[in-house]
Amino acid sequence: MKRAIAQEDFGTLEDGTTVDRYSLTSGNGVRVRILTYGGIVQTVETPDRHGRDADIVLGFPALQDYVDLNEPYFGAIVGRYANRIAKGEFTLDGETYRLAANNGENSLHGGPGGFHTKVWEARPIEADDSVGLRLAYTSPDGEENFPGTLATTVTYTLTSGNELRIDYHATTDRPTIVNLTNHAYFNLAGEGTGDVYDHRLTLNASRYTPVDAALIPSGEPASVEGTPFDFTSPDGIGERIRANHPQLLIAQGYDHNFVIDQPHPGLLTEVARVTEPRTGRVLEVSTTEPGVQFYTGNFLDGSLAGTGGRVYRQGDGFALETQHFPDSPNRPDFPSTVLRPGESFDSTTVYAFSAR
Ligand code: BGC
Repeated sequence: MKRAIAQEDFGTLEDGTTVDRYSLTSGNGVRVRILTYGGIVQTVETPDRHGRDADIVLGFPALQDYVDLNEPYFGAIVGRYANRIAKGEFTLDGETYRLAANNGENSLHGGPGGFHTKVWEARPIEADDSVGLRLAYTSPDGEENFPGTLATTVTYTLTSGNELRIDYHATTDRPTIVNLTNHAYFNLAGEGTGDVYDHRLTLNASRYTPVDAALIPSGEPASVEGTPFDFTSPDGIGERIRANHPQLLIAQGYDHNFVIDQPHPGLLTEVARVTEPRTGRVLEVSTTEPGVQFYTGNFLDGSLAGTGGRVYRQGDGFALETQHFPDSPNRPDFPSTVLRPGESFDSTTVYAFSAR
């Protein structure tokens, strides 16, 4: 298929808002489908080493599924604050803000009405060697109790080299906090084909942030050395996931922020490389962000049927959510997530797809 971008109707929300689906085709075998609802990456079809296509992200077939059932945040843009804020509370410039507790006592992923539920304004972009979609959403001052009007754009670009690049940009009119990510879950053998434990992972991270029982970072970043969290050289995702390690017990698998070894903070740095032995598919992730949440779909429990009609169970997908660290607004020792008027939040993550 030639490089192209196409738009189609993807249904209507209860309030009458229509949702579109855009199909981005790289011209080199990859097709990505994105919804204006939640900026959701619904499908990513890529060829294996024999040229056989599969959809390698978890998702749903229909709009209503995303509205009613997307507690796992399949493929969604997550904001204003990706990951957890302890007790849903933070103080900024002396003022305390209380967010909805939607994950035990914590605030998770921007609250119940977070960016994953918004219908984004979409503009297709065509360039010499890429196609893209620029999504825009302006979050009003006080939305989900976050201060400041946050004007946000998220631009998806699919290059002829089969890279999906995500550029995040945000500005505010009052001091606020921001942490944006995409919550795609991958299964490089194809969604709905079973667990990802045979995938081999390399993570460019020599430290991670251990968590308490509520999955809030509990202290200083810790070394991964000698623990099941050491993926500095390639290892099976499932190789040590059943190790009797207190951190794996808390999260029922991996659900942890890794501190990326960044030689130049703020510049695009390699984060992860994942290979799937049977199909030969390779995913390489790079980002400008300081952290990445590696999550092995621990809370998928067999109660959801995915895009291809098969049920998802624990471990059937993994997410690599590039981000600032969880609970940063309450952790002056972590890289800051504060955004002030006149500044801009800019962040880039690249997912590169190949097979060998
Ligand atoms: C979190 C998980 C959570 C999942 C879906 C991940 O980013 O770390 O704990 O279950 O998102 O909400």
